[in-house]
Amino acid sequence: MANILPILLFLCCGSAALAYRGPDLPPGPYCGITGQCCTKRQDGCSHRILDSVCYCDQFCKQNRTHDDCCPDYETVCLNEPAQPIPLQNTPCKYNNKRYFPDETTKQNCNTCTCVAESESTSNWQCEQKTCLMDEEIIENVNSRRLSWRAANYSEFYGKTLEDGLTYKLGTLPLSVETKRMGAIRYDKDIDYPREFDARRRWNSTSPIIDQGWCGSDWAVSIVGVASDRFAIQSNGAEKITLSAQMLLSCKRFRRDKGSCKGGHIDIAWNYAKAEGLVDDKCFPYQAKDVRQVRCPFKRNGDLISDGCTPSTPLRTSRYKVGPPGRLKNIEDIMYDIMTSGPVQAVMTVHQDFFHYRDGIYRRSRYGDNYLMGLHSVRVMGWGEERGDKYWIVANSWGTNWGENGFFRIARGENESDIESFVVTVLTEVASAYQKK
Ligand SMILES: *[C@@H]1O[C@H](CO)[C@@H](O)[C@H](O)[C@H]1NC(C)=O
Ligand SMILES: *[C@@H]1O[C@H](CO)[C@@H](O)[C@H](O)[C@H]1NC(C)=O
Ligand SMILES: *[C@@H]1O[C@H](CO)[C@@H](O)[C@H](O)[C@H]1NC(C)=O
Ligand SMILES: *[C@@H]1O[C@H](CO)[C@@H](O)[C@H](O)[C@H]1NC(C)=O
Repeated sequence: MANILPILLFLCCGSAALAYRGPDLPPGPYCGITGQCCTKRQDGCSHRILDSVCYCDQFCKQNRTHDDCCPDYETVCLNEPAQPIPLQNTPCKYNNKRYFPDETTKQNCNTCTCVAESESTSNWQCEQKTCLMDEEIIENVNSRRLSWRAANYSEFYGKTLEDGLTYKLGTLPLSVETKRMGAIRYDKDIDYPREFDARRRWNSTSPIIDQGWCGSDWAVSIVGVASDRFAIQSNGAEKITLSAQMLLSCKRFRRDKGSCKGGHIDIAWNYAKAEGLVDDKCFPYQAKDVRQVRCPFKRNGDLISDGCTPSTPLRTSRYKVGPPGRLKNIEDIMYDIMTSGPVQAVMTVHQDFFHYRDGIYRRSRYGDNYLMGLHSVRVMGWGEERGDKYWIVANSWGTNWGENGFFRIARGENESDIESFVVTVLTEVASAYQKK
C-alpha cells in the first residue's frame, strides 16, 4: 500500500496535518473526478497525487492518523464544506528548494533563517558577514579588461573573509624588531634579463605547499626559500624540503609562540639560523600548531639525534641559515634571485586577491577595501607579457589555486606593497658541495 506521508514530510518537514491541506498539494479534484467514495481500502479507489497515490475511502475517516487520503476527501465524500487553504507557510526558496519558517540554510558563509513576515509571505533573514568568495568580484573582474582573471574557489566558498585573512595568510604586523632587519645592498650596474625563472634556471625548486586553514604563511614561505637555496647553493646535492611544521611546533619565543594565528618572520628566520630545521619527510607539515602537534625534538639536536635521514653523508647537523637581510630596491631583489635563488616578500592582501585565477594581479578595489592582511610569499623570478612587467610568485594555497599554485603580480609598481619588505638569506650548505 502506497503511503504519501513521506512525500508530505519531504515537502513541508513540519506537521503532516498542515501539509495535508497545505498549499503545496495540488488541490485536486481527486475524489471529485468520479465522485467515487469507497467503504474499504481498495486499491482502485485511489488517484495519483504528486509521485504517489491518495485514497477516497472511509478508512480515512475511521483512522485519522492516516494522511494518505485525497485532499478533497472531506468535501466530496463527507459533504463537509471546503476549508479554506491556509495561506501561511508560503515557503522561502533557495537553489530551487523550499524552506518553511524557522528552517535554516547556509548561503555562502552566512546562515539564513526563513521568517514568516505576514500570513502569506515569508523571507530569508541572513547573517551579514562578509564572505571570502564574492560573486560580484568575480563578475566585475572578469567583465572588465583587467590584467588578471578571477575564479570561484570551492575550497574558499562558505568561509568568511575574516577566516581567510586569519587562516590563509598569517604574517603578523611587522614589529619594530622585524623592521630593524639589516639591509643588503648590491647596487650592481648590470643589464637584467627580461625574464628569469628560478624554477627553470635550477630545476630544483621546492614544491607548492598548501598551508590549509592555518595562518602559517610565515613558516611555509621561509622553508620554501630556505629549501630552494639549499638545493641551489649545494649545486643540487642538498635537494630537500624543510619542515614548516618544525617552525610551528618547536619555535617558542615569548613574543611569538608559533601559531596558526600568525607569526613574525624575523623570529622564524632567527630560529632557522640558531636551531636549524629538519626536513619535511622527518616532520611533515600538518597545518596544526603547537597546541595540537608537539615538538618531538630536543633543543640543539642534530639530524641523528632527531632521528632524521641526512641528505648527504657529509651532514649530521640540522639545516641552518645565515642571518636574514632586507633587499630594498627592485634591482637588488632581481640580482639576489638571479645569483642565489628565490626570496621572501611580504605583501598586503585584500579580498579580491583570494579570487585570482591567472594573469598579472593588480588590486582591483572590487569587494571589501577595509579589511586586509599581510601575506609572506616566495618570489621565484620575473618576466614581461606584452610590455607588462611582473614578478612570478609561489603562493601557499595548493596547486589548484592560481597558475598551478603560483601567481604573477605587477613589477616595479610596489603593487600590494610586494616590493616593500623583501628578505634574502644565505644557507649553511654542507661544505663539500658549496658553490665556488
Ligand atoms: C490507525 O492506523 C495505524 C496504522 O495503520 C494503526 O497502527 C492504528 O492502530 C490505527 N488506529 C485506529 C484507531 O484504528
Ligand atoms: C561557487 O562555488 C560554490 C561551491 O562549489 C558553489 O556552491 C557556488 O554556487 C559557486 N558560485 C558561483 C558564482 O559559481
Ligand atoms: C630536472 O630534474 C628532474 C628530476 O630531478 C630530471 O628528471 C630532469 O631531467 C631535470 N631537467 C632538467 C632540464 O635538468
Ligand atoms: C610600497 O608601499 C608601501 C605602502 O604603500 C610603502 O610603505 C613602501 O615604502 C613602498 N615600498 C617601495 C619600495 O616603494
